[in-house]
Amino acid sequence: MIDLDQLRTEALAQIAAAPDDAALAALRVKLLGRKSELTAALRGLGALPKEERGPRGKHTNEVKQAVEQALEQRASELAQLAESDLGKREWLDLSLPAPTTPRGHLHPITQIEDELDDLFRGMGYRVVEGPWIEDEFHNFDALNIPDWHPTREDWDTFWLTDGNLMRTHTSPSQIRAMRRFGAPLRAVLPGRCFRNEAVDATHEAVFNQIEGLVIDRDIRPGHLFHTINAILSVIVGPGVETRFRPGYFPFTEPSFECDVKRPDGSWMELCGMGMVHPHVLRAGGLDPAEWTGFAFGLGIDRLAMTRFGIEDIRWMNSGDLRFLEQF
Ligand code: DAH
Repeated sequence: MIDLDQLRTEALAQIAAAPDDAALAALRVKLLGRKSELTAALRGLGALPKEERGPRGKHTNEVKQAVEQALEQRASELAQLAESDLGKREWLDLSLPAPTTPRGHLHPITQIEDELDDLFRGMGYRVVEGPWIEDEFHNFDALNIPDWHPTREDWDTFWLTDGNLMRTHTSPSQIRAMRRFGAPLRAVLPGRCFRNEAVDATHEAVFNQIEGLVIDRDIRPGHLFHTINAILSVIVGPGVETRFRPGYFPFTEPSFECDVKRPDGSWMELCGMGMVHPHVLRAGGLDPAEWTGFAFGLGIDRLAMTRFGIEDIRWMNSGDLRFLEQF
């Protein structure tokens, strides 16, 4: 007769040491299967003398139950191990922030233009954009520049085959704004301009301006100077130094030019301006006996150069990331 207690001890030790499900399944067959010692022991009960049969049967069943229990326990241990092992391999933390998509940023000119738009809106101006392709009337004649006028030479541009042209400045939008909105009027008209220009460090064939136009009763040059200084002290900085000097533009009378001091101490022409010429008011559909106004045209590229300390305007359209990534 087999020693049931020894069987139990050995069986439980083997079960506890089973490394995986396959080993455990093999043990189950070996310990509880048809050819196992326990099955044989149960079968052999009938051959025992009557008084031994009860206690021996009870003992055998206890051992069998202990083995079954041990097998179950080891199975659930192995399942748990497998789960925590999976936890190590598949690493997923839902509380972490998702990886971000790299984001671009706005071009320095767009940044300055957005700031200017905001500033002027804060002072009650509307922001309107005129067309880049203009006709001769809006770009020149309506601005008091008839075709014989020598200043047309200064504004040579790219002419289209249909007789229209790439606008040389944002000033033609003055006429469009006056005609569309009437007076009184406060508007800025930003956008791209084009000139057939000898390109150098401060001149580009494609550049950006913001035109300002204020029409009301009793507008004087002081309003204009104050407005320009107020804007520049925000965009360039509170310590900005400006210089106003007499200028000439056919569409303003009197006319002025404004220079700003650059970080290197030199002056850069930034802005043309003046009191809106009566011919221009008339071209805009307004009566010069009733309305007065000031206008200015500010170079956004040059303002961005002053603000960011950029030495050469040609960087602006270069598309060079080494330049653009600095802003
Ligand atoms: N349009 C001029 C230019 O491109 C700048 C300018 C001068 C605009 C005087 C104005 C102005 O509105 O009054 O050079």
